[in-house]
Amino acid sequence: MNEIRVAIDGPAGAGKSTVAKMVARRLGLLYIDTGAMYRAVTWKAIEEGIPLSDEQKLVELASNLHIRLQTNKQKQSVFVNDTNVTEQIRSKEVTEHVSTVSAIPGVRTSLVKMQQKLAQEQGVVMDGRDIGTCVIPDAEVKIFLTASLEERARRRMEELIRKGVQVDFEELKSSIAKRDEMDSSREFAPLRKAEDAYSIDTTNLSLDEVVEQIVSICEKQIGTK
Ligand code: DC
Repeated sequence: MNEIRVAIDGPAGAGKSTVAKMVARRLGLLYIDTGAMYRAVTWKAIEEGIPLSDEQKLVELASNLHIRLQTNKQKQSVFVNDTNVTEQIRSKEVTEHVSTVSAIPGVRTSLVKMQQKLAQEQGVVMDGRDIGTCVIPDAEVKIFLTASLEERARRRMEELIRKGVQVDFEELKSSIAKRDEMDSSREFAPLRKAEDAYSIDTTNLSLDEVVEQIVSICEKQIGTK
């Protein structure tokens, strides 16, 4: 019986998805990347040529879109109406516009509903910006992951280099800072630490150290259930 719900929030590039995936594997829970859902709506909007200023069309799009996350041991694949968009949703274009789309209240309402349904069906590790505050406010474990902007940009740069993508460090840093600013200052469900979340600054921690800390918090919680 370890069907707990673990909410992991934090700014872009804090390592949430890598950490969340590893914690999920260790605890036998389903990993759900909610950022991928906002990216999927953004990708589809660009694909269909919907102006990102047309909130009504975007809300309609989000409520009719069939987004499916398929998890296997190695990675999570994202499907939009049965098209595999796992790679496309990570493009520079989608990344640049996803904060605009995710600030629209009606878009969030649809996606939050899907996320809450998933979290009702099984134990999950869900990462995002508003999981502990809005999506699963009664999650058994809430984590707020941070790292310095410099370190987050450095990690993202390494990840892109591994994929063979050329990037300018300063440009990357300012694009992450811009996304943080938009995600934190939006009116509806902004990025914010839940009052009862554990804060972990990962700037000087290894991936394994972060995972160990979270797993041990979860195990304590499971022990008290
Ligand atoms: O985690 P990510 O970088 O893939 O997320 C992409 C964007 O989606 C991020 O800039 C903010 C938004 N997002 C959100 O508003 N709420 C979530 N729960 C997850 C992501």
